[in-house]
Amino acid sequence: MTLIFGIESSCDETGAAVVEDGTRILSNVVASQVELHAPYGGVFPEVASRAHIEVIGQIAQRALDEAGVTLDDIDAVAVTRGPGLAGSLLVGVNFAKGLALGRNLPLVGVNHLEGHVYSLWLVGRESPVQFPVVCLIVSGGHSEIVLITGHGAYTTLGSTIDDAAGEAFDKVARLLGLSYPGGPVIQRTAQDGDPQVYDFPRALRGEGYDFSFSGLKTAVLRAVQPSQQGKQNKRQPKSEGLTPDQLAPDISVPDVAASFQAAVVDILVEKTVQAATEHGATELWIAGGVSANTRLREEMTRRSPIPVRCPPLALCVDNAAMIAAAGYFRYMQGYRDDLALDVRPMWPLTSIENTD
Ligand code: KG4
Ligand code: ZN
Repeated sequence: MTLIFGIESSCDETGAAVVEDGTRILSNVVASQVELHAPYGGVFPEVASRAHIEVIGQIAQRALDEAGVTLDDIDAVAVTRGPGLAGSLLVGVNFAKGLALGRNLPLVGVNHLEGHVYSLWLVGRESPVQFPVVCLIVSGGHSEIVLITGHGAYTTLGSTIDDAAGEAFDKVARLLGLSYPGGPVIQRTAQDGDPQVYDFPRALRGEGYDFSFSGLKTAVLRAVQPSQQGKQNKRQPKSEGLTPDQLAPDISVPDVAASFQAAVVDILVEKTVQAATEHGATELWIAGGVSANTRLREEMTRRSPIPVRCPPLALCVDNAAMIAAAGYFRYMQGYRDDLALDVRPMWPLTSIENTD
């Protein structure tokens, strides 16, 4: 039995977890900062790193207590090294280095995107994974289609050229006067709307596996702003967000939310299913915060010819159990970092043999 202590602090969630053999969660403690950032409509980096510092010690202790273990039982420490906010990552990495040095434990730096992939190892399976698998990673910072040919073996088939899918949800929520984070509130609002009222753009359709969501956000702004209705040639205003009384009078926010959500889901599903088919994937996975979206799960399942797997909701958002799971597989392959480990805020997902 191998126990990995996972630490996650790349964005606005402070997480610590204990995972056994890369697949069984003994504890998974997350402190969310959502309320701290809500007034800004997005994550305020300096506020985030300070909040991580305040809670990380308690979160780590709670993770050990809830797992019923002590540091003496832990085999290695896995920590998110990137990508993410530099100041936030530093808190987790330095905390993990302190544990590794103080307790003479092996240290494993983990790519946050690889963590999202390994949330799919924590769901319990009836049969072993047959590679290749295609995974859509969709979060506040990323929209990637990744081909996985083995543990730690990745090829990124496509990614966003501008906004991430979750970022689009957050920005559109803000311009509709809805709260942060945008994904859950747009999903709730869309339940009362008709997704066919607005025909929002599906960018880069039929053009490979990259995504683009910034034009979609602008199209939503054009649709809801009174001064822009019917004046498509006017210079575009900045998408700063509108208060509810600034929306065009005849606008139905649920219809806009439903049509926007349908456009995002449509293009995510279309490209992922195509990638999975083209690369002979045996399963299609969805991970990251946006994978909590019910319409995305349903549409992917409906349109995919191969089985679709999604993490439970608690493992969609950032958490340390997924980092511990990814760290376990790296650890078992002999991967180790030393105390010179530094944060990588812009770190792309690379295969284990290419990790520098
Ligand atoms: O993975 P995550 O917790 O953090 C990052 O690594 O970015 O993802 C957060 C993102 C936010 O943009 C949030 O709006 C989005 O996930 N999200 C959703 C839903 N729940 C969270 N987007 C669409 N539908 C949801 N139900
Ligand atoms: Zn994430």
